[in-house]
Amino acid sequence: MRTRRALLLILTIGLIVGLGPAAWSQQVPRATCLDCHEEEGMEYAVLRTTPYIEIPTGEPLDLDVTVVNPWLHEITSSFVTLNLSQAPGLTFEKPDDINEEDEFTLGVGESTNITFPVEAGATAVVATMEQTPDESDRGLNDVDTRLWFPDGTSREGPQDGVRSPDLQEGEIEPTIEPALTVEQIIIEGDRLADTGEWTFEVTRQTGPPQDPINTRIQVFYNTTDTLSQTLRDTIGPQGSGSVTFPVQGQERGDVTITYSVELTAFYDHGDITAQDEGNETLDGSTSFTIGDELETDDVGPVIPEQPPVNWPMNARAWGEVTGFIGLFLVPIALILGGAFGRRNVLWVNKIVESARVRVLWHNAVSFIILFLTLLHIALFLYEPAFEWSVGMVWGGLSTLALIGLALTGGFQRSLARKIGYAKWRLLHIAMAIIFVATLLVHAIVDGVHFDWARAWLRFS
Ligand code: HEC
Repeated sequence: MRTRRALLLILTIGLIVGLGPAAWSQQVPRATCLDCHEEEGMEYAVLRTTPYIEIPTGEPLDLDVTVVNPWLHEITSSFVTLNLSQAPGLTFEKPDDINEEDEFTLGVGESTNITFPVEAGATAVVATMEQTPDESDRGLNDVDTRLWFPDGTSREGPQDGVRSPDLQEGEIEPTIEPALTVEQIIIEGDRLADTGEWTFEVTRQTGPPQDPINTRIQVFYNTTDTLSQTLRDTIGPQGSGSVTFPVQGQERGDVTITYSVELTAFYDHGDITAQDEGNETLDGSTSFTIGDELETDDVGPVIPEQPPVNWPMNARAWGEVTGFIGLFLVPIALILGGAFGRRNVLWVNKIVESARVRVLWHNAVSFIILFLTLLHIALFLYEPAFEWSVGMVWGGLSTLALIGLALTGGFQRSLARKIGYAKWRLLHIAMAIIFVATLLVHAIVDGVHFDWARAWLRFS
């Protein structure tokens, strides 16, 4: 009895001490998604364009750049740039500039929204608001502005040093000065790739409601060689998304267009150490002729029908399967072995009709567990996504104990003859306790599908 208690104590201390090294046998972060997933057939994206062979001169046409997701991640944003510098006969169709003026009045606290389209190729957007000068010198006649982009973000107009109504609690109130007579928001650069419906929001904070407010929206387009557009939709596995560039063939001849896509790939790995977001830039080019006819190639379906399933990936799945089956077989082996006392033994003996058959079943199930364990280890060493050391500490201890069980079990007769049955039994039971305890810790600490258990035990 004493030895057994001592054993349990040592085991408990061992578990607590051992939790330290377990952290060391975890996943190591890598630089890119491909470092872990390339062997599994991961590609960030595949780029396609409208497959023109020939386009007629002088006619406006849409040229689509399509981002295809061939793997299992999500593409959460793509910034697409089309470059026509190697296509002298081809230009972007230039939308007309916008120059719109408006005059209106607003009551205190009221606002008005002026929406306008921004298309690909805009080089600048200028939104201007003019109100009557604030003669109070302390913001008693104040109109504020804000420009909303299609993606839901916004840019506030210049600060007029007057307390604004959305000042957060605890923020320091700016010094009191006259409100601005003119507020202007100018947008240039990459922000213009956010094409679609833009909104200029004008709000009267204070001041006489009958005073006129004047606004002016200007959108400028220039002829350029390169155009960029943001693809806002998330592209799921096997999905695709396109942006459209309006182009026009000007001169006959062969042209090559080049394009690039900056994208963000995403997958929520739960609490295993792998970064969930990765950025990548992909390039491509397409050639066609500017002539008389419209001729398009037939390229078949753009979206791959199935994700690539290959051996490295199967190995990961089967590695998990063997682990789970093994885990579920352990209680069966324990019951067949009579681990739960005298009653357990008698009960099973009655079902299988003899003690000898019970032990045979115990042996069979135990050796299946050993076989599954070795397969489990081999599969996880072979598959690329998990670091080789993941699970080594607890899984390794567990495997050693299992091998010990197999040896004491397999050589029961000769061993028992040498050291006596009581000692043999104690040895076998001690190993079983170590095996089950380390196995449970291995599953909970290392198992991808045990995050609920880790959360419950506050392990991570
Ligand atoms: C350190 C290695 C590592 C890195 C880096 C990594 N992953 Fe993973 N990834 C894993 C492991 C391990 C799994 C399996 C566990 C799981 O399903 O969560 C996995 C699973 C996945 C899966 C699910 C695959 C399936 O079989 O369903 C996707 C999709 C994925 N990762 C995408 C990404 C993306 C996108 C990136 C880059 C932002 C990335 N991974 C970076 C290790 C990594």
